[in-house]
This record gives sequence, structure tokens and C-alpha cells, in this order.
Amino acid sequence: MNLQVEVGGLKLKNPVMTASGTFGFGREYGEYIDLNQLGAIVVKGLTVKPKEGNPPPRVYETPCGMLNSVGLQNPGVDAFIEKELPFLRDYDVAVIVNIAGETIEEFAYMAKKLDIDGVDGIEINVSCPNVKKGGMAFGINPDDIFNITKEVKKVTQKTVIVKLTPNVTDIGVCAKAAEDGGADAVSLINTIAGMAINIDTRTPVFKNVIAGLSGPAIKPIALRMVYEAARAVKIPVIGMGGISSFKDALEFMIAGAKAVAIGTCNFVNPNCTIEVIEGIKQYMVLNNIEDINDIIGSLKVD
Ligand SMILES: Cc1cc2nc3c(=O)[nH]c(=O)nc-3n(C[C@H](O)[C@H](O)[C@H](O)COP(=O)(O)O)c2cc1C
Repeated sequence: MNLQVEVGGLKLKNPVMTASGTFGFGREYGEYIDLNQLGAIVVKGLTVKPKEGNPPPRVYETPCGMLNSVGLQNPGVDAFIEKELPFLRDYDVAVIVNIAGETIEEFAYMAKKLDIDGVDGIEINVSCPNVKKGGMAFGINPDDIFNITKEVKKVTQKTVIVKLTPNVTDIGVCAKAAEDGGADAVSLINTIAGMAINIDTRTPVFKNVIAGLSGPAIKPIALRMVYEAARAVKIPVIGMGGISSFKDALEFMIAGAKAVAIGTCNFVNPNCTIEVIEGIKQYMVLNNIEDINDIIGSLKVD
């Protein structure tokens, strides 16, 4: 049985990855699961300097998902290289580093620094809704997506993935801008802009008022967007948004995703990624599928 997929030159032993910001730098989860079994680990979004993030509350539960406003808390790119990357290097798993700059120069600066052993891919985060500068401000503008991708591609040999925001009218246009800029793959979706209100105080739950919605609530939207993006570009699409089971993962792959990432579900079930991998294997056995690649984009539409 073949579970191996190729994402922009990067060979993954299976198509199941972790979604940035929901798996830290792998350490905590390494106590629960064998990290070697994952297709790839995508680490928490990094900025040039350490970032404290937003004041609490940072997460808020909704009936079938959660809102977050973490604000890209992270130790900065240098501390990642020094303290976290050596830990990850010890594992036989692809490491994809998510970067979030406030300017095009910052994206290029970090990508260049990360063009080192132990890093397999760079995920350009132009889609974070919880920061004032950079993030989604770039992700909603196809010209910015194009330019950032182009500058990052100039300074790295690694596989470059552009992470798109769903908070746009036409996801196909954004995916195409990344492809035109030279991206090796696109990933989507990041969180959907949402909010919550405290009715006693009549104030927003989050300091930034607007936060990012993730989890099962967003799955149908994410699936639709992955389908649209996969039709708009030739480069591989990595799908995510509310995946909680192998069935969810398979839906994304049938819709056209070459790989999938699991985010919020890691908080609910730390074993989720492994269960998804096992479930996909069982589905393949039951349906006589020898190669996982045969199901990618196999959606039948009249
Ligand atoms: C607490 C939290 C932190 C996140 N941090 C990042 C981040 O640093 N960079 C990024 O590109 N996406 C970040 N995301 C978005 C996720 O990677 C993912 O795209 C999104 O949550 C949808 O997938 P899910 O529904 O499976 O969680 C974060 C999501 C959550 C819930």
C-alpha cells in the first residue's frame, strides 16, 4: 500500500500533517504520539522577533468550533533555530516552518535564515486574522500574495507553501496569485473571521473584537474552498479546516487536496493525527486502493 504523496518536491510518508499553531513545536505532543508517524509537522507561526501575543482571553468555545485570538505568540525565528529545531531534527518527519512577517522584507529575511538543514518547507502565513500588521492584510490582496511569494522563492531552496485566508470573495484568484509568484503549493484554510459578545458587560469577548473561527463548524466552507482552489491551480493544495476524522480527511482529498492538516482537533484528541492515518489505511484496504494518490481529486461531478 502506498501512502506517500509529493507536495511540491517534498516527499511525505503519508498525507497527514499538523496545522500551524495547534501543535506548538511538537514537544508536548511527542509525549502522546510517535511524531515519526506523521506526514509532516507544521510548526507555530514565527516572527522575526519574539512576540508576546494578545492579552487573554485567547480562546472561546462555540457550539461546534472555537474562536482564537492568540496573536502569533512565539519565541522568534532565532530562538526556534537554536532551541526547537534540534529537537525536531531528531525525528524522521518533514518539518515545515510557518512564517508571519509584517513586511515583505521580513518574510524574505526569515525564509533565508531558515534555508538550513532540518527545515523541509516554508509555509508563508499571509492569513492570520489576529494581528494588526501583515497577516490577513496581505492575504486578501492577490498582488501582495504574488510579491511575497516571489521574494521568498528567491532566497530559499525549500518547498514554499502559501497559506491562504478564507476571508476573501474568490479563493481561486488568491491561489492563482501564489502559483504565479512561484509557490510550490498552497494550503488552506486559515481561520474564518468571527466574534463573540459578553451579554452581561455588552463588550466583545476578545480585545481585538474579531477573532478566528476554527474546528468542525468551518469544515463545509473549507472543503468548498479547497475544491475551488484545486480547480484554479496546477500546484498541490493542502487542505485543512475542521478535520476531526479520517472521513473528513478523505473528503478533502477527494475534493482535490494532496495532503491534509489537522488543527483544532489536536486540542480535543491529541491522538487525532494518528487515528486519521490509521483510518485512511483501513479505507484503502476496504476499497482495494493500492495508492493514496488514486483518490486525490477523484470527486465525481456530473
Ligand atoms: C490556537 C490556534 C493558533 C493558530 N496559529 C496559527 C499560526 O501561527 N499560523 C497559521 O498559519 N495558522 C494558525 N492557525 C490556523 C490553523 O493552522 C488552521 O489553519 C485553522 O485552525 C483551521 O484548521 P482547524 O479547523 O483544523 O483548526 C491557528 C489556529 C488555532 C486554533
